[in-house]
Amino acid sequence: MARDNPTFECTACGQGSNKWLGRCPACGGWNTFEQVPETLRAPRVGRAAPEPVPLSDASTTDLPRVSTGITGLDRVLGGGLVPGSVVLLAGEPGIGKSTLLLQAAAATADAGPVLYVSAEESAPQVSLRARRLGCAHDRVFLLTASVVEDALAAARRVAPVLLIVDSVQAMLSERVPAVAGSVTQVREVAGQLLEHAKSGGPAVILVGHITKEGLVAGPKALEHLVDAVLDFSGGGSHPHRILRASKNRFGPACELALFAMGDNGLTEVADPSQALLADRKAGAPGSAVAVVMEGLTPLLVEAQALVSRSALANPRRVAQGLDGGRLALLLAVLEKRAGARLADRDVFANVVGGVTIDEPAFDLALAAAVLSSAAEHALPDELAFFGEVGLLGEIRAVNHPQERLRAAHATGFRRCVVPASTKLAPLKGMTTLPLSDVAGLKQLFGAVD
Ligand code: TYD
Ligand code: MG
Repeated sequence: MARDNPTFECTACGQGSNKWLGRCPACGGWNTFEQVPETLRAPRVGRAAPEPVPLSDASTTDLPRVSTGITGLDRVLGGGLVPGSVVLLAGEPGIGKSTLLLQAAAATADAGPVLYVSAEESAPQVSLRARRLGCAHDRVFLLTASVVEDALAAARRVAPVLLIVDSVQAMLSERVPAVAGSVTQVREVAGQLLEHAKSGGPAVILVGHITKEGLVAGPKALEHLVDAVLDFSGGGSHPHRILRASKNRFGPACELALFAMGDNGLTEVADPSQALLADRKAGAPGSAVAVVMEGLTPLLVEAQALVSRSALANPRRVAQGLDGGRLALLLAVLEKRAGARLADRDVFANVVGGVTIDEPAFDLALAAAVLSSAAEHALPDELAFFGEVGLLGEIRAVNHPQERLRAAHATGFRRCVVPASTKLAPLKGMTTLPLSDVAGLKQLFGAVD
């Protein structure tokens, strides 16, 4: 009972319970339990029992798609929007979610009417921006409302192909006595929109704000409800914005598109690898290029490391765009297995371009960058890297090696350091340097210490 239909719920992580708890057993939060309103608890009655269909039935495989007119967005969605699906677009405030959706709204309007519900900005604000971006299409309808029932009433009138709700945290339902942005409200709002979408309604895109620390309560509670979650991220002053699917019921997760934010909104970057490496300083110690996979797309990114003598008892370890724990572990491996002296050094590591990398194949380039900075020797220029580093200093194989090699070649690299155990078909104009151990990295820049 408590599991399927809880009467109380943690507002931080969504953990259910049939009684109030002072501390959440799942996330450890204090005073986070709230009563779930009756409307969300009551089982649905009077609906028709669903009919099973054979898996071979074409109607279960050929999903109609509506193009958003933005190639990158379509690709990340798995080929466009699926009518009746609900997509969550999550990102930090100011990253460009509204801009992206305004542009998508105008481009989608060629296929049918689009309803843009803004609960955060006023009508003049949105129209002004739309006009400036050239997105003021006469089939994009704007509704400024923060009550979901009003939004749904408008959606029934307009019958759009795409309904955009910006943002889910700013909406509320009259049915639920909770403040906007609370988990209870966010789920009720999403639940009503979901029901509308699933009962022959439009494709719905919900905007969800997240904080710097990661997902806040609201969007996290929605992830399992929606069909797809798109993450929109980017680094502070950097113009690059990365869109990727972290969940997609209708396509591959982890597809990627790179956009640049400019004076005229977002434009897609056709060759992400070239763009991310554009400012690279050749011949500088502490720089190495990694070939990582973003879903099925190989991407070349620069790993930078700065190793310097520390004046502190506990030297600083700062990781940007990568996991700090992973960096610490890699440094320990390099100290132990590659004889690098790092214990009394400050180490700063960075992924260039405001990109966040969460892939073990990045290890090898990062290790090379750290050793290069520590030794003050630059790595050869035309060299790319991929491989996972194990605790014993061994370099382990990673998936899609051939695609990675091809991408490195296409971006202009002529040599690639690869795990020794990886079998690769020869590629014209590309030399592979198989390596089995991180200690072997040192020979790349002739540093012996
Ligand atoms: P916005 O789409 O409002 O972000 P979000 O909806 O995710 O909160 O984007 C806001 C930022 O984008 C704002 O700081 C200004 C910048 N921006 C541009 O640089 N160029 C533009 O053409 C637009 C519309 C916004
Ligand atoms: Mg916005």
